[in-house]
Amino acid sequence: MAISTKFLLFTAFLFFFFVSPSTQASSFRPKALVLPVKKDASTLQYVTQIKQRTPLVPLKLTLDLGGEYLWVDCDNGYVSSTYKPARCNSAQCNLARSKSCGECFDGPKPGCNNNTCSLLPANTVTRTGTIGELAQDVVSVQSTNGKNPGKSVSVPKFLFTCGSTSLLEGLANGVKGMAGLGRTKISMSSQFPAAFSFRRKFAICLSSTSNSNGVIFFGDGPYTFLPRDFDISQSLIYTPLILNPVSTSPAFFSGEKSADYFIGVKGITINGNAVKLNTTLLSINKEGIGGTKISTVTPYTVMETSIYRAVVNAFVKEISKIPRVAAVAPFTACWKSESLGSTRVGPGVPQIDLVLQNKNVFWRIFGANSMVQVNDKVSCLGFVDGGLNPTTSIVFGGHQIEDNLLQIDLAASKIGFSSSLLFRQTTCANFNFTSNP
Ligand SMILES: *[C@@H]1O[C@H](CO)[C@@H](O)[C@H](O)[C@H]1NC(C)=O
Ligand SMILES: *[C@@H]1O[C@H](CO)[C@@H](O)[C@H](O)[C@H]1NC(C)=O
Ligand SMILES: *[C@@H]1O[C@H](CO)[C@@H](O)[C@H](O)[C@H]1NC(C)=O
Repeated sequence: MAISTKFLLFTAFLFFFFVSPSTQASSFRPKALVLPVKKDASTLQYVTQIKQRTPLVPLKLTLDLGGEYLWVDCDNGYVSSTYKPARCNSAQCNLARSKSCGECFDGPKPGCNNNTCSLLPANTVTRTGTIGELAQDVVSVQSTNGKNPGKSVSVPKFLFTCGSTSLLEGLANGVKGMAGLGRTKISMSSQFPAAFSFRRKFAICLSSTSNSNGVIFFGDGPYTFLPRDFDISQSLIYTPLILNPVSTSPAFFSGEKSADYFIGVKGITINGNAVKLNTTLLSINKEGIGGTKISTVTPYTVMETSIYRAVVNAFVKEISKIPRVAAVAPFTACWKSESLGSTRVGPGVPQIDLVLQNKNVFWRIFGANSMVQVNDKVSCLGFVDGGLNPTTSIVFGGHQIEDNLLQIDLAASKIGFSSSLLFRQTTCANFNFTSNP
């Protein structure tokens, strides 16, 4: 008996000793992932990059914060030995809430197989949609400790939808699809935490220049930026996310909820003075109309006409002493840049506050985010008139969130925002992308 116990202990030890290192290596579990994101100078889209397929190929994708999922062009050059379409009524089709099941006659090939379920992938820049097969394939991205990128990790069965080559029209040069981070179970921001069992949080930090990378983190902080290794996740202001019960996608099945991130803007103040607005427009009605969402596919904040006019007029009144110059479309209020002066957080102009759940919680917009330098000499208030009956009253756009870090906590349904990083003497271009494996 004694001998056999010893023997067992010995084999257990051997097992541990020989097996353990290889299990550890193959089961490396990242706490967070990181992607670079760069502004495309001609379209003003934010373009990120992942690797997909077997063998892996790098794919450029337009970032869509409110996008429902990853979609890529499967018509042109999709070659992969691990591509697998989702069979009708499978768990994948249920997770994706697909409502359609179909046949395809010129396949089989990626994007065209029989007995597969489909979704309605959309180009949210041009607002066009199509029907496309739901599928899975390998996706590879870099892990991070919050300070540098680390080793690459793969998700073997990452769900995405096949778009078509024509759906790429209007996207930045070289882009092969869109990276949707929206409020669905199959968005990239839901699949990564599910694959590696980390917190359902992610953050975006968009750089204002097209010369350097901003950053997307999947997972919790730290989110550390040079030059002083400042962890931005420690100093965020939070506001609840609001669910819009009606889809705001260009193409959707009836009954679908919106995948966009809405926040509860209750009012707008300029230099502390309330702007008079029709507050009905600020809430979302039963048809899903109204409210405020955050968008990375809208370069400048778009406001319903009455809100737009009220905000521009109040802003102009606050700096009525400075003479205006001819407007440069699509903007209507412009000044000589040098007449505005400059501060650490951009041109010296009135502060615009989006008042949130109460008057002490606001999103403050400084000159760097409110003003757009349209040419060498002129800067304009960077908001755009969205017309009289837009679906969403305020679409808070890319220019207004650059150099601000936004963290979305899907589990707690809240969004944290940093306000301008320029105040902390850093920018979204200051994540250290040098790998530290
Ligand atoms: C799908 O099934 C139809 C018959 O229903 C057949 O003609 C077609 O070749 C099949 N396509 C694929 C991709 O298998
Ligand atoms: C405010 O907006 C709502 C929704 O568009 C509209 O029905 C209402 O007439 C507006 N109120 C005023 C005072 O303009
Ligand atoms: C960026 O990270 C690398 C790898 O850890 C490090 O060697 C380098 O010094 C860092 N750069 C700066 C500017 O701190």
